[in-house]
Amino acid sequence: MCDRCKNTFYITTPIYYPSDKLHIGHTYCTVAADTMARYKRMRGYDVMFLTGTDEHGQKIETKAKEAGVTPQQFVDNIVTGQGGVLDLWKLMNISNDRFIRTTDPYHVAAVQKIFKKMYENGDIYKGSYKGKYCTPCESFWTESQLKDGKCPDCGREVTDAEEEAYFFRLSKYAKPVRDLLTNTDFLEPKSRVNEMVNNFIDPGLEDLCVSRTSFTWGVPVDFDPGHVVYVWVDALFNYTTALGFMNDTYHEYDKFWPADVHFVGKEIVRFHSIIWPAMLMSMGMPLPKKVYGHGWLLLDGGKMSKSKGNVVDPYLLAERYGVDALRFFLMRTFPFGSDGNFSNELLISCINTDLANDLGNLVSRTVAMVQKYFGGTLPAAQEADEALDQPLVELASGLREKYEAQMEAYQFQNALAEVFKVISRANKYIDENAPWVLAKDEAKKPRLARVLYNLLETVRICGALLEPVMPDTTAKIMARLGEPAHGWDTLAAFGALPADVTVAGGEALFPRIDMAKELEALEELHQKALAAAAGPKEEPLPEPLPPVDFDTFCKVEMTVVKVLSCEKVKKSDKLLKFQLDDGTGTPRQILSGIAKYYQPEELLGKTLVAVTNLPPRKMMGQESCGMILSAERGETLKLVMLDDSVPAGARLV
Ligand code: ME8
Repeated sequence: MCDRCKNTFYITTPIYYPSDKLHIGHTYCTVAADTMARYKRMRGYDVMFLTGTDEHGQKIETKAKEAGVTPQQFVDNIVTGQGGVLDLWKLMNISNDRFIRTTDPYHVAAVQKIFKKMYENGDIYKGSYKGKYCTPCESFWTESQLKDGKCPDCGREVTDAEEEAYFFRLSKYAKPVRDLLTNTDFLEPKSRVNEMVNNFIDPGLEDLCVSRTSFTWGVPVDFDPGHVVYVWVDALFNYTTALGFMNDTYHEYDKFWPADVHFVGKEIVRFHSIIWPAMLMSMGMPLPKKVYGHGWLLLDGGKMSKSKGNVVDPYLLAERYGVDALRFFLMRTFPFGSDGNFSNELLISCINTDLANDLGNLVSRTVAMVQKYFGGTLPAAQEADEALDQPLVELASGLREKYEAQMEAYQFQNALAEVFKVISRANKYIDENAPWVLAKDEAKKPRLARVLYNLLETVRICGALLEPVMPDTTAKIMARLGEPAHGWDTLAAFGALPADVTVAGGEALFPRIDMAKELEALEELHQKALAAAAGPKEEPLPEPLPPVDFDTFCKVEMTVVKVLSCEKVKKSDKLLKFQLDDGTGTPRQILSGIAKYYQPEELLGKTLVAVTNLPPRKMMGQESCGMILSAERGETLKLVMLDDSVPAGARLV
């Protein structure tokens, strides 16, 4: 069989700008693509799922300069550093088959060849780019980039200027691209087609400037030093170079190209549905089968952005609620093609309603009843009741088909809604059949066994279809059902679960969350994050004290002490108890309210200063003979520490 006749599926996410840490909005598209990839794998497709990072361009160059590092160091930190892009995808259980970085040498070399090919076929030509120039910043700006007509970086006057640049003949492809958008299903959802045609194509497509000379962090045009390739040309071709196009690092271009679908956010649909197909036409390459433009996750009605300080941190949510719950929430709550408003209330109520109440309860109640009434293993002798069983059996048997139709249309929300219809029906079936009543009558045991079997089989089908969204949860559910077969082929009909199934217990899959308490906790964390992002607060200086005479000052005995031991005082959040060597040979005990700032073990052996002629006093029932000196302002507290060469007992004078 030739490669192309195989059941392959190639899906991509946009490649992310590593200019800041990623937020929940970025996670949204990648989780959707992961869900799709897992679903196709489940159906037996040979899947290639690609994601990556788009690492060139002026913005990165500028940010790196601000951070005092090279652009490569800057992107390396955000992509491969702790808590970076790779860590986030690992945390979110993203099953990408490949990860491309546009700074990968194979990609850079391939982009140079691609650029040259379009130059040689006449679709890229040299012209001049008119814009505004800021002399002190040595930067070119377009009219729309200016801030109040001035340089957006330094606010100074700009002048008209022209620079040599290469252009791509986008205008030449206006008609074929328009046909592609209007006569095929290339771009979805359909609403985005009108937007592209009315706002961009019909007003007239101008040729696109595809090189820059005002900065250097990009793929160099190898036949014209000083020019770097426009970042979008570099970025878009990632979808093909990652398969091996124009390079020898990979060899799957023939197998997987054209892509089955590119998932992209709505603001970059223009690049993917106009510029991308035009460049592919110029290269004589097949076009991707589909571009799907999803909506944005909004916060308080606006786009999340680092500069607005309204980003939602996926690490924090995953840590509090679990990765599966977070993935599920994203796919279950928002229709993929439209914008959706993120809120903590929505997230918690989704977890409580669907996962804790409906799914979690169904699984734990059913398993618990099998254990209670049959010691964990159902008897094979079972008694069906057509009238009572049919509604559930029919619904569960027909689920795969409905689910598939929705998944094939990228309607994750609807696919999950279908699964939850069946889960709700199963919970109702429990009430209708009242197993606890059947259990009271020995003669009804075969009927009871059948009721529980039907429930377990429903759990198996629903649990399996949740796998693309919640892989870990599906694994847990299957463990409770004794690891039954749950491949795609076993899901279209009722009955693949053995009649004498043995179940296993376990903890609640999704504990219920106390909404009010949780919202309060999240708000507190949010305020802390805002405060941390705003930097340390300048505390006003304390009021100056009245002068003291020298003799009074000299009466204070300040002694160098060494920490012999240090421990937390039981039942106190504030106090640490020290045994100190003050040079007298007898350890001195001092209690100090610094537990918030220091761990006891980090202070062992340290050389500190204590006031040693204060009268002893009791704190939490224990004696404290003196006071350890520290420096305090606002949230900062540091103990006064001396270097270890100063002996215990030395006086401060
Ligand atoms: O655009 N909700 O990178 P990017 C949903 N490098 N999606 C969101 C979002 C939100 N709040 N915020 C961002 C780029 N996104 C280019 C792509 S592809 C050849 C080059 C989505 O990191 C956004 O819509 O700025 C986009 O699809 C993706 O994150 C990457 O954004």
